[in-house]
Amino acid sequence: MRVLVTPDYRTLSLTAAELVVKAVRTKPGLVLGLPTGNTPIGLYEQLVRSYREQQLDFSKLRTFNLDEFVGLAPNDPHSYRTYMRKHFFDHVNVSAANTHIPENPGTYEDAIKQTGGIDLLIVGIGTNGHIAFNEPGSSFASRTREIELAPETIASAGKYFEGTPVPERAITMGIGTILESRCIVLLASGASKKSVVHRALNGPVSEAIPASALQLHPNVIAVLDEETSHHLRQLR
Ligand code: GLP
Repeated sequence: MRVLVTPDYRTLSLTAAELVVKAVRTKPGLVLGLPTGNTPIGLYEQLVRSYREQQLDFSKLRTFNLDEFVGLAPNDPHSYRTYMRKHFFDHVNVSAANTHIPENPGTYEDAIKQTGGIDLLIVGIGTNGHIAFNEPGSSFASRTREIELAPETIASAGKYFEGTPVPERAITMGIGTILESRCIVLLASGASKKSVVHRALNGPVSEAIPASALQLHPNVIAVLDEETSHHLRQLR
């Protein structure tokens, strides 16, 4: 695993964007796995900037999002489809037909396979160690499926739902599916992720910390900021 420690969130976002921009320039039909949450917002801002200022072409890009809540209409303000449109899809020339959000676990894996597999997957980490919505205890062999969200995940999503109930179930790409990506970029920022990132990258590989599965993958780049990487000096 390569660990890139950046001084702050802005540099983390720029660094992640550079990796994506380079991959899209090398392979315009890149198959890109995409996360939601707060952490990748700066990355999406930089990608939109690359589209506007450097004419980066996303017209052949294929995207697969990591997860989605169950039971929300696609245009619900809290759905991840809405998030993706707001932060990325509506601002670049990606074709809507090439963007995928997991809504049907049965067909999602086939859709990924038909593209030849995910080239580059960007992933965040929850404070309980989840990747996508693979909560602690998820099998490392798991595939795209519907799951029950952990109470701490529901609690931390609450701040975005502004009083409306947070769905208790979600569809998530499996850990096995994630590990089949050719390259994985983990993004983590801020002091709240410090302890879990340390356990995921430096601790024992265990289903109790789903993100520790990344230690099993041969091509992972962790892009962290100073606050998050405080415990990781020995990895540098
Ligand atoms: C949600 C998403 C995850 C994401 C996590 C961290 O649970 N389903 O894919 O990694 O939030 O979010 P944040 O970046 O806001 O800390």
